Amino acid sequence: WPFHAPLVQAINRLKRERNAVILAHNYQTPEIYHCVADIVGDSLALAREATKTDADVIVLAGVHFMAETAKILNPEKTVLIPDAGAGCSLAESITAADVRLLRERYPGVPVATYVNTSAEVKAESDVCITSGNAVDVIEALPGDSVLCIPDEYLAQWVATQTRKKVIAWKGHCEVHERFTGEQLAAYRRQFHGDLIIIAHPECPPDVLAEADFVGSTAKMQGFVETQQPKRVLMVTECSMADNLEAANPAVEFVKPCNLCPHMKRITLSNILQSLTTLEPRVEVDAAVAARARRAVDRMLELSR
Ligand code: 13P
Ligand code: SF4
Repeated sequence: WPFHAPLVQAINRLKRERNAVILAHNYQTPEIYHCVADIVGDSLALAREATKTDADVIVLAGVHFMAETAKILNPEKTVLIPDAGAGCSLAESITAADVRLLRERYPGVPVATYVNTSAEVKAESDVCITSGNAVDVIEALPGDSVLCIPDEYLAQWVATQTRKKVIAWKGHCEVHERFTGEQLAAYRRQFHGDLIIIAHPECPPDVLAEADFVGSTAKMQGFVETQQPKRVLMVTECSMADNLEAANPAVEFVKPCNLCPHMKRITLSNILQSLTTLEPRVEVDAAVAARARRAVDRMLELSR
């Protein structure tokens, strides 16, 4: 990628000057993932790393809720998101007022909230979850019912992994909801069954029923690296397979690519711009952040 080189060099130089660290989600494009990120991972890994860094500035190459989580965990640091419009359909699907109403409707039922939500929604929750730890965290909660919000499909998948009664909300990921079980069955026919399908739990139930393995982006990566399937279809955002290709040359990646338009708002150019201007900054109201932090910390404790 020779045309990326000047931007990559400038970003890496500025990172040193600013004592900045770039945390990049697995859905970032390969030039961000491989050339400028200091830490890459799933939502859980990025939240964990955000608690460990001694950098003065955190650049979150990902979407807004991830940057908010980093800020909640590091109120004293400067947290940047190179494009403040990088949202998420799940985070948009629920408000703090919705959670308060759910609590009235289901008194005493613990609220386990996906990290793909605003700080205000986290602040109304008992604990956060990610797709990497949802089952473990929910199993560790008291009682035999749980509100698992806002991703309906993640909640339905968790319900297949626990004996607890799981109450869902109707939020969906606009990327993963586009896959269909029929589409995956057609891929199996095309390759005469010689295909391993691994899927993200944000996918609809008919997709997950077709999958050989279900897990977060980090768990999908672990599956590919340890199992080295001859041919794999990763039912998730496009960049995931692109990023794993280089380190797994023996694996053939089949790509029914669905792109996340929010993740793709982050580019080398706006990372450089953000490091130059130290804008846009992510700010979270102190009282909201303190309440949200309890839910995030509890998740990190329960999923150690
Ligand atoms: P994970 O990386 O935690 O699996 O989440 C996927 C996702 O959609 C993040 O936006
Ligand atoms: Fe949100 Fe889905 Fe994009 Fe992840 S992939 S940021 S869940 S819209």
